[in-house]
Amino acid sequence: MNGENIADGAGITGKLADKLLASGADVVTLGNHTYRRPGIGEYLATSDVVIRPANAGAWTPGHGLAVVEARNGVSVAVLNLLGSLFLEVPRSPWEVVDELVDEARRRAPVVVVDFHAEATSEKVAMARWLDGRVTAVVGTHTHVQTSDARVLPGGTAAITDAGMTGPHDSVIGVKAELAIRRMRTRLPVRFEPAEGGVRIEGVVVDCSDDGRASGIEALRIDV
Ligand SMILES: [Fe+2]
Repeated sequence: MNGENIADGAGITGKLADKLLASGADVVTLGNHTYRRPGIGEYLATSDVVIRPANAGAWTPGHGLAVVEARNGVSVAVLNLLGSLFLEVPRSPWEVVDELVDEARRRAPVVVVDFHAEATSEKVAMARWLDGRVTAVVGTHTHVQTSDARVLPGGTAAITDAGMTGPHDSVIGVKAELAIRRMRTRLPVRFEPAEGGVRIEGVVVDCSDDGRASGIEALRIDV
């Protein structure tokens, strides 16, 4: 699960991360809002399963790779990376991804990459670059589920954006009138999370124990 905006729409707290884990998430990934909430750095420094982007900088607390066990005993590695187009990143994901994928594959046959990035082109390019080396490249950050869930020729499942679990009667989760006011007036407006149209969105990836994907389905569930 990507949990970077679980704390009222911006960031995450240790308490909320624990809640996500207790609700059934095996690994929680984050993104560009990782360090918005006080105390989260200390939490991430000691957590093996709540991870921040691996290219978030050498001195930021936390880990960028988690390895957990699936219900059938197969090891699953989860990698979190930030895109470099239109986002500020201390290191380009392209500089670090190959080494990280090698490390993940040494530790687990199934490798899932959460590529938290703004540009569709960068997310499509990363999926193509990793095709055949990882099980899935799942895009996050843009909140709008894309219609390109597919398995690439090398056996890597990919989607540009898994979508958003949250209030869809909104501007990507924010009360629409506040987001529009900030855009129109260019004045500072305090964002508040919206409430209506709550949907669960995500993807289900089918794969074999050797990590090769055979299917991917985008999910959209009204609640
Ligand atoms: Fe984000």
